[in-house]
Formats: sequence, structure tokens, C-alpha cells
Amino acid sequence: MNLDSERLPGHVGIIMDGNGRWAKKKIMNRIKGHEYGSDTVRSIVTAARELGIKVLTLYAFSTENWERPKHEVKALMMLLKKYIISQRLELSKNSIRLNIIGQKHRLPLDVQKEIDTTISLTKECDKMILNLALSYGAREEITFAVQNIARKIELNELSSKDITQDLISDNLYTSSMPDPDLIIRTSGEYRLSNFLLWQAAYSEIYISNTLWPDFSKEEFIEILKNFQKRDRRFGKV
Ligand code: IPE
Ligand code: IPE
Ligand code: MG
Repeated sequence: MNLDSERLPGHVGIIMDGNGRWAKKKIMNRIKGHEYGSDTVRSIVTAARELGIKVLTLYAFSTENWERPKHEVKALMMLLKKYIISQRLELSKNSIRLNIIGQKHRLPLDVQKEIDTTISLTKECDKMILNLALSYGAREEITFAVQNIARKIELNELSSKDITQDLISDNLYTSSMPDPDLIIRTSGEYRLSNFLLWQAAYSEIYISNTLWPDFSKEEFIEILKNFQKRDRRFGKV
């Protein structure tokens, strides 16, 4: 079966997991796993763009990941900064718009600055949106949305009757984007780990046993083919 480019998922989310275990298997330090993992990010972003995916959301750092050892958090932030700087021109050349979902303000200031530069360089790009989920947690996202809505009610800009599913969606980091059609998690874990909980209501889920540094374009294409064979019913018959 070939991939049908007319029936691609519009929005793909990926929980990029398994860097640490990949490094451990190779008797390397966990940080090495993250380094190789960032090479996979480069190749999968390019692949998604070539295939014609419109929105790609990559879960790169969760609100819970701040609890990891300080040196690991520091290394992850450094790798992130390196990625943002080194991919800047590549993203813009390929018309990929960078967007951040999550608590951007909690990132180190130097990282925020590089992110802002890349966001403004790519702001007119319209072939694909690359959503990097950074200091992202769906429960935090929903809490933040509820606070925003409550504030508008306090200011009499809204009434409680105006609270609809669309209003809630509009107050999430992903406002104006379609919900993910497909969520892939690598490393064989069967959980969402606080990723896009509201938006994933009807997402197709694919669990791959591959550890993220070994994830390839070929496997990505196989997963997209698997997605195309599925019957999405959305609760109907
Ligand atoms: C994913 O790999 C990267 C992040 C969560 C930042 P992990 O670091 O979680 O790797 P494992 O799960 O320990 O193998
Ligand atoms: C999920 O992976 C978060 C990211 C991929 C950024 P984790 O490794 O943090 O999740 P758990 O701890 O296995 O649930
Ligand atoms: Mg993990």
C-alpha cells in the first residue's frame, strides 16, 4: 500500500520518548541520548514537511520534566537553544513556522530570546507549523484557559453561558489549530503523560517500540499508512 497524500493527518503530535534508555543501552550518558534525539527531530521535521503534514507538534519538555536532575535540565535547555539557532534558516527556507506551546516564560532567558528570533523570522511561513511543546502540560494549559475565561467573566466581558467547547479550545495554546488526528508515542510506553489531553479526544494513537533516537522517516511513513487504514467513527456508526 502506498501513502495517499490526499488523506494525510492534518495535525500529527509526537511524544518523543526513550532518549535515556537508548543511551543506557549503548552504555552512554543520558545526555548523549538527548543529543542523538535532537538529530531525529531534525530529520522528522524535514520528513513531515516533505510529506505535506500541515501541523506537527513535538513534545520536547513537559512541566513535570523540570523535576529531573539539574544537570539534565540544563543540558536539555542547551540542546534546545542549539536546535533553535542551527535550524533557523532551514525552517525559514522550507516555509515552516515555529510556534511554542507551553510556559515559554519559564525557559531560560537566553533560550527565550533565540526562540523569539526564530518565531519572528518564520512568522510568514505557511507550509507547515512546527509546534514545540516546551514546559508544556495539558493540565496547566487547561488551568490557564479557565483562569483567562474567569477573568473575562469578572470584567463582565463574558457570561458563564458563553462558555462553550469552542471557547475553551480558543483559550488553549493550540487555539486556531485543528486537533491532532494522530498521536505517536515512541519507546513503547502506553500513556499520554499530560500531552494535549483536551485536544486528543478523538486522536488516533500509535505506540511504537522504537526509542526516539532510532525513529526514522521510513517508520514515520509506515505509521501514516497505518493511520490511513483506520476507521475513525467519532462516536457514530
Ligand atoms: C524523552 O526521553 C526526552 C524528554 C522527556 C525530555 P527520556 O529522557 O524521557 O528517555 P527515557 O524515557 O528516560 O528513556
Ligand atoms: C513525556 O516523556 C514527555 C516528553 C516526551 C517531553 P516522559 O519520559 O517525561 O514521560 P513519563 O515520565 O515516562 O510519563
Ligand atoms: Mg521518558
